[in-house]
Amino acid sequence: MPPVRVLPSLLSCDFADLRGELKRCADAGCGLVHVDVMDAHFVPNLTLGPVIIEAMRRATPLHLDVHLMMTDPMRYAADFRKAGADAITIHVEAVGQRRMETAIRDLRTLGCKVGLAFNPDTDPRLWFRWFSQVDLVMFMTVYPGFGGQAFIPEVRDFIRATRERFPDLDIQVDGGIARDTAPTVVNDGANRLVMGSAWFKDPDQAGLTRWCESLT
Ligand code: DX5
Ligand code: ZN
Repeated sequence: MPPVRVLPSLLSCDFADLRGELKRCADAGCGLVHVDVMDAHFVPNLTLGPVIIEAMRRATPLHLDVHLMMTDPMRYAADFRKAGADAITIHVEAVGQRRMETAIRDLRTLGCKVGLAFNPDTDPRLWFRWFSQVDLVMFMTVYPGFGGQAFIPEVRDFIRATRERFPDLDIQVDGGIARDTAPTVVNDGANRLVMGSAWFKDPDQAGLTRWCESLT
C-alpha cells in the first residue's frame, strides 16, 4: 500500500486568513491540502469556485486536491484546472456509467491527477473497471456537504474490498477522520486521510500529522 498522507480539509480553516492557514498546513508537514467545492445542488451547501482556487494557488506551492461535489462537474473542470487544481475528483453518482469514459478522458487531457469519489451508499465494486484509469479513489465516510459529522463505519467494507483488489491504488477517505477513526481506516487499506475539523482544531497539527503518517 502507498504511504499514508494527511490532507487538511480547508473547509474547516479560517477563510479570513487563507494564506496563514495554508502556511500552517505546510509548516505542519503536509504536502497536500483538500479543497471542497459544493454547488448547492449535488449537496445542500455552497462553498467556493475557481476564483478562490486561483487565490490559493498564488499563496502556496502545496498540492491542491480539489473535491467537486457538483451535479455537473465536467462543465467546470477546465476552469478549476486553469485556476491551479493539481488533482480533480468527481463523484461517480454525478457522472454515471454512461459518461464515465468521456469524463476520465477529458480530465486526463487537463493534465492533472484524476479521482473518483463515492457517497457512503455507493458500492465501488460496480465501478472497479474504471479504477485502473484514475490516480485515486475517495470514499466519503460521511454524507457529503458539511464538516464535523460522525464517521459512518459501514463504508469500511468498501475500503477493504477495494484495497484487496487494488494494492497500489491511492485510497482516500473523507469525513469524520480523527485520532479515533484514522487507525481503523488505515488498517482497512486507506492511505490518504482527509481531515477537516479534527486537524484544524488540534493544538499540535504537526504532531497529529506525523502520528497519522506513521500508522500502518
Ligand atoms: C464533507 C467534505 C469534507 C469535510 C470533512 O462533505 O467533503 O472534506 O471537510 O470534514 P471533517 O473531517 O470535519 O468530517
Ligand atoms: Zn471533501
